[in-house]
Amino acid sequence: MNGTRILLIVGGGIAAYKCLELIRALRDRGACVRVVMTKAAMQFVTPLSLGALSNDKVYSDLFDLNDEQEIGHIRLSREADLIVVAPATANLLAKMAGGHGDDLASCVLLATDKPVLVAPAMNPKMWAHRATARNVELLKSDGIAFVGPAHGEMAESGEAGEGRLADLPSLLTAIDQQLQRQRAPTPAAGPATGPASGNLLRGKHIVITAGPTHEPIDPVRYIANRSSGKQGYAIAQAAAQAGATVTLIAGPTNLPDPAGVAIHHVETARDMLQSVRAALPADIAIFTAAVADWRVDVPADHKIKKNKGSSANAPALRLVENPDILQNIAKAKKDRPSLVIGFAAETQTNRLIEFAQAKLDKKGCDWIVANDVSVDADETSGANTAGVMGGVMGGDNNRVHLLTQEGIEDWPQMSKRDVARRLIKAIAKHIDGQTSLERKVGAS
Ligand code: CTP
Repeated sequence: MNGTRILLIVGGGIAAYKCLELIRALRDRGACVRVVMTKAAMQFVTPLSLGALSNDKVYSDLFDLNDEQEIGHIRLSREADLIVVAPATANLLAKMAGGHGDDLASCVLLATDKPVLVAPAMNPKMWAHRATARNVELLKSDGIAFVGPAHGEMAESGEAGEGRLADLPSLLTAIDQQLQRQRAPTPAAGPATGPASGNLLRGKHIVITAGPTHEPIDPVRYIANRSSGKQGYAIAQAAAQAGATVTLIAGPTNLPDPAGVAIHHVETARDMLQSVRAALPADIAIFTAAVADWRVDVPADHKIKKNKGSSANAPALRLVENPDILQNIAKAKKDRPSLVIGFAAETQTNRLIEFAQAKLDKKGCDWIVANDVSVDADETSGANTAGVMGGVMGGDNNRVHLLTQEGIEDWPQMSKRDVARRLIKAIAKHIDGQTSLERKVGAS
C-alpha cells in the first residue's frame, strides 16, 4: 500500500470507533489516509482523534468556504486511489443508491471517478430490510465493491446476526485487493491454475451458494451433511480476485468470511433459495452448496423429549422434499443468469459422469462440475480417518470433471483453491468467446 491515497468516509454508526484502528493499520502499511466524516459520525468519534491518527485535516462540511477554496469536494473525490466507506450505515447506502448529495460525504461519492469499497455496519434487521437489500443490489450493479457485513453480536445487548463491520484483517485484505486490481493489467485467459486475479470478470455479478444447509427437527436438533463450504468459498474468493462483484450465500460453516465478497448467511434450503432470488439479477450463478434434499415437515416447537428410553417410542420424522435451488434458478423465466453452473457430488465413482450428465439435463443448468465425494476420493486429505467421511467433503483437495456443451474436461486432483481459479478462468474464457461471437454477429 506504500504511497497509495485512501479517502475514508466514516458514517454515523457505533462501529465508527473501529476506524481509528483501520487508519492506524493503513498508515502502518504506508498508505496516506484522508478522512471525511458525516455529521452523524461525529456523535460517535471526534474529528480530533481521526485527524490525529490520519495526520491530516478531517473534512465534514460541504459549505466550509475555506475548504471549498482550499480543497473542494471534487478534488477530495479525485485525489484518492480508492474511496472506502466504513462504516456505511443504511442511510448512507440509501443516499448512495439514490444519488443524493446533501452533505460532503454524499457529494464526494457522487463526484468521484475512483473505485469505491463499502463496509456496511448496522443492526441485522436494518441490513435484512428489503429497502437496504434493494439499495445494496443497485450499488453492486453500479460496480461498487462490498466487504462484509460480518455475522455476530451487536452493540445492542441481546442482538445478534449479520450486520457487524467486517473485521480489520478482512477490511485490509479487501482494500489491498481493490488497489491491486487497479494496478493489474487486463490479463488474457491465461494458464490453467495461476491466480485468477486482475480484471477477468470485471463488471460481472456472480452469485455463489456454498456449505450445507441445516434443517431443524426441533429448536436444538437439525438435519445436516458433511459439506465444509471450502470449495464454494474458494470460488467466491477467486471470483472477487478476478474483479467480479460476488454475492456468496452460505449455509452454516466454520470458515471466515472471504474478503471483498458480499456474504449472506442462511440456515435452511428455503432461506437459501430466498437469498439467491434476492441477489439476482446476476450474470453467472454457481451452485456449490450441499443443500439438504429433505426437511422435517413440521419441526417441533420445543425440544423433543425421550420417551421412556424405548426405541418403540422414538419419534418418527416425516420428511418433505426441499426446493431444488439450482433447478429453480436454471429454469426461471425471469432473471436467469446467462451462465448457470451446478456441482454434482457423487459417491459411485464408476457412474460419476453418467449421474452428473443426468443432473445437467434434468436441472437445466449450462455446466456441471462433477466431483467424487466417495470415501477414497482424496487419499491425501487425511479427512478420511473415520472411514465414513469422503476425503473431498471437508478436505482441501478436489478432483473434478467439467461437463459443458463442448464436452467433458477431466481435471487432475488439485487444491480447492486451484479448482476455483481454473473454473473462474474457464468462465472468463467462455464469456470472452460469447462476447466476440456477439461482436461478429453484430458486425455482419
Ligand atoms: N442443489 C440445489 N438445491 C437442492 C439440491 C441440490 O441447488 N435442493 C444443487 C447443488 O448445489 C448442486 C446440484 O444441485 O449444484 C446437485 O446437487 P447434488 O446434491 O449432487 O444432487 P441432488 O440434486 O441433491 O441429487 P442426489 O442427492 O439424488 O444426488
